[in-house]
Amino acid sequence: MRATVVVPLLVALAGGRCQDAPPPDSREAQVARGQAAYARTCAICHGRAGEGYAADNAPALANEDFLVTASDQYLYETIARGRPGTVMSGWAKEHGGPYDEGQVQDLVAWLRSWQKGTMRPLDQARLQPGSHDGKALYVRHCASCHGAGGIEGPYNRLAHPQLLDIASDGFLRASIVEGRSGTPMKGFRGLLQPAEVDAIIAYLRQNPARVPAVGRPAATASATVALPVGGEPAFPGDARFIGVDLAAREMRRGARILFVDARPPSDFQAGHIRGAVNLPFYEAPERAGEIPKGTWVLTYCGCPHAESGEVAGVLRGRGHDRVAVLDEGWGPWKTRGYPVEEPPASASSGIGP
Ligand code: HEC
Ligand code: HEC
Repeated sequence: MRATVVVPLLVALAGGRCQDAPPPDSREAQVARGQAAYARTCAICHGRAGEGYAADNAPALANEDFLVTASDQYLYETIARGRPGTVMSGWAKEHGGPYDEGQVQDLVAWLRSWQKGTMRPLDQARLQPGSHDGKALYVRHCASCHGAGGIEGPYNRLAHPQLLDIASDGFLRASIVEGRSGTPMKGFRGLLQPAEVDAIIAYLRQNPARVPAVGRPAATASATVALPVGGEPAFPGDARFIGVDLAAREMRRGARILFVDARPPSDFQAGHIRGAVNLPFYEAPERAGEIPKGTWVLTYCGCPHAESGEVAGVLRGRGHDRVAVLDEGWGPWKTRGYPVEEPPASASSGIGP
């Protein structure tokens, strides 16, 4: 279901500005709330000032080329649903994240506050790919950064069904032609004919990748964490990082390891290491006490180090002496076939190759 986003017009601030706190529903108050939420949950990857690339190749959200082409609906839906299967989590409660609709709108207002110019008109005409081979063009010009199948990265997953669903042809055209100045995404104006750009978009639309379904609201997490039983794992006492192969071997041996998943519940629900507990990085300061002492703790995320590193740091600060980050993170753990818990396979979507 699509949420409609109504962002109030910028409140005129000229003259008569008083010292008191702004009314709670003013644009100013909304931006301030969005700023706080952003600092807590988004800056870790997108950077404090939206400069991007703080972790995991997270794109630059304060980028002017991005902001003048991305509609409020695009921002809202992207934040709410995330891009499942990538490290960009779903953040709305209805998708298992922490934020209600109003809080997602606050975030949109904060992102918007970085924009300097007016929205750029988008060319929303029907795609006219002519007889160009979109796949060949994609492979030649785009695959090195966006992945051979459009989903492997290292940068934005263009074949992601969530992006393709939310992004209009006009937005995609503008992103390709103008690029995003100051990022590795150089514009292709003059390098690709308009029909070639359209052929690439048509190719992507015809070949969406297969990704996990959007997360559903999380069941309320239990505050009591059962300690795993078993002997001590053979980890070096001062280890800061433990590789997935060693961790899985010790787990199979029945060693006592508590896996702590540092991602938002939307990701945890879509699949996690067997027996893991969920402590989202942004809740770690308040909820660290739920993690029992006296056992090895391995924190992990999809990043693989940003969110897990944050939680490991908080736990160490609270006196946990055997805490390490699972080095390669969730992705390699899963692809190497180590023990996981996942919802039934019918929860998958996408019709990709
Ligand atoms: C040198 C690396 C590189 C190449 C080559 C490249 N891109 Fe990009 N692209 C990026 C990066 C990095 C971003 C994100 C920039 C940002 O906003 O921080 C991006 C963003 C995009 C976006 C916006 C996606 C979104 O989630 O908003 C589109 C669309 C896109 N690229 C299409 C293409 C197409 C099509 C090609 C080939 C014709 C291409 N790119 C070639 C690096 C590249
Ligand atoms: C763990 C790192 C991480 C965190 C935390 C994170 N993001 Fe992202 N975000 C990403 C990555 C990576 C992408 C690109 C995903 C892709 O397409 O491959 C992305 C994409 C986006 C986009 C789309 C940008 C574009 O170019 O189209 C928006 C908007 C966004 N994130 C907003 C947010 C907001 C708001 C938050 C906090 C509530 C947040 N993100 C938290 C990593 C993160």
